[in-house]
Amino acid sequence: VREPDLAGRHVVVSAGGTREPLDPVRFLGNRSSGKQGYALARTAAARGARVTLIAANTGLPDPAGVDVVQVGTAVQLREAVLKAAADADAVVMAAAVADFRPAAYAAGKIKKKDDQEPDPIVLLRNPDILAEISAERARPGQVVVGFAAETDDVLANGRAKLRRKGCDLLVVNEVGERKTFGSEENEAVVLGADGSETPVPHGPKEALAETVWDLVTRRLG
Ligand code: C5P
Repeated sequence: VREPDLAGRHVVVSAGGTREPLDPVRFLGNRSSGKQGYALARTAAARGARVTLIAANTGLPDPAGVDVVQVGTAVQLREAVLKAAADADAVVMAAAVADFRPAAYAAGKIKKKDDQEPDPIVLLRNPDILAEISAERARPGQVVVGFAAETDDVLANGRAKLRRKGCDLLVVNEVGERKTFGSEENEAVVLGADGSETPVPHGPKEALAETVWDLVTRRLG
């Protein structure tokens, strides 16, 4: 049994993937299962933390002893994360947030028109929640963690992203066909703003989650 090294701490974890609606029945979305975020929430609760899990379209059962807030879109995820982060010691953004959303929402189902080309979908940029919470820490010493899925030049792209986002830790995953999405396992490198590099060998998502909390706990002092 692990010591409750997160006792007295409030941590916020986002999980899943946002869905950006086009009309009442259609959306732009992604393949994030939410499993890594749920593993982070479960392990933090087991280590004694008060946990707020912001869940976007995961369809997973609520983990025991965790406060779960369900959201749909990136804009809703931002609202929920900012609210929960106000008194949080750490925020871990494991959710796959859509970079763009459709500029228009059709209140009725979009119909196909005979003999006519479809209308293009115009997109707007979504807010970058990770960059925002990193730039404006809700409390001094708050630890902010991001995730990044990269297909090539994993470490170089990860380093650049860590700087761009301004977070303390960035968990970099190599993704590709049959890798990571929906699977029970993960393999990653955790990059620190202090220049540190922590490789996490292929294994259960819980193991990666424990490593993230080890690194967060060390930074909380
Ligand atoms: O830029 P990229 O999408 O690769 O960054 C991934 C990280 O940034 C994840 O931690 C994700 O939760 C976060 N993110 C965000 N808001 C966005 C896009 C990504 O917080 N609009």
